Amino acid sequence: MNRIGVLTSGGDSPGMNAGIRAVVRAACHYGMVVHGIRHGYQGLIDGDLVPLGPRDVGSIINRGGTILRTARCKAFYEPEGRRRAAEQLAERGIEGLVVIGGDGSYRGALALEKEHGIKCIGMPGTIDNDIGGTDFTIGFDTALNTALDAIDRLRDTAESHDRLFFVEVMGRRNGFIGMFSAIAGGAEHVLVPENPADIDELVRNLTRAKERGKRSSIVVVAEGGAAGDAATVAKKVAERSDFKDSRVTVIGHLQRGGSPTAYDRILASRLGVRAVQALAEGQSGLMAGVRGPEVVLRPLSDAWEHPSRFDPAYAELMQILAL
Ligand code: F6P
Repeated sequence: MNRIGVLTSGGDSPGMNAGIRAVVRAACHYGMVVHGIRHGYQGLIDGDLVPLGPRDVGSIINRGGTILRTARCKAFYEPEGRRRAAEQLAERGIEGLVVIGGDGSYRGALALEKEHGIKCIGMPGTIDNDIGGTDFTIGFDTALNTALDAIDRLRDTAESHDRLFFVEVMGRRNGFIGMFSAIAGGAEHVLVPENPADIDELVRNLTRAKERGKRSSIVVVAEGGAAGDAATVAKKVAERSDFKDSRVTVIGHLQRGGSPTAYDRILASRLGVRAVQALAEGQSGLMAGVRGPEVVLRPLSDAWEHPSRFDPAYAELMQILAL
């Protein structure tokens, strides 16, 4: 394979640029030509492609976001969109694609492979860590540390005013950021989509914490939790208890930006090189991920067939430590 393309798709995540850099430089190392595709699959359909060489990806390893831009593209769900995309690739002699994104992006990649024979390798890029087939996704560690920094700051003011804070973190479908930031931030309680949304239990825990002498508390709420967003949870708690004067902070898209951590840069670099090697070997329909210390190739469909779950023992750990 001589010519490949690389695109970022879905929500951006810190470390995507490090991934693009790794793909471009590895491709150059193996004697391939790389085209960067702007705005995800939409750019592929529109022919928004640009050749990328090693110097074009200099000084981006430290930058958040994605230099290729990203998009969620409805047209690519349709066969006609994929036909136009395949035409653009054929015009440029591109035979393989590296797709940096989440499960929606992989479904598109598999359809493109099936209908038009384009070889596709995925790299997991999302802050949510919700992609099966890998222990960690590119961007999760940075987002987690951003959430943690916010929680640490909120603790300062919560303690100063003897206040209860509800902090909302991202995570539509799972509570990786929620659970991990709550443990690392020493929160009193966490509500995540994986666990039952029990407001009475939350009130009991807060009451117990107060009885044990805690004058301030932090409750982390993952946005996808069944009890609702942080403002809703705060309202429900106020209705059922004396905790009426709380404050609510939504960290929101701050979690998506910022310079990637060393972990995310190294992860993206390892996966980018492996993705290119996989294309050079003629492989397709796979995602480069990490399992323990190893870089592995797993079927793209693992992303949604075996979604990542955190060990339930973390919930118990949380309870023990929130004493
Ligand atoms: O997929 C990552 C994520 O950050 C989710 O946690 C969040 O719900 C969502 O993206 C928000 O995405 P957007 O604002 O781009 O629609």
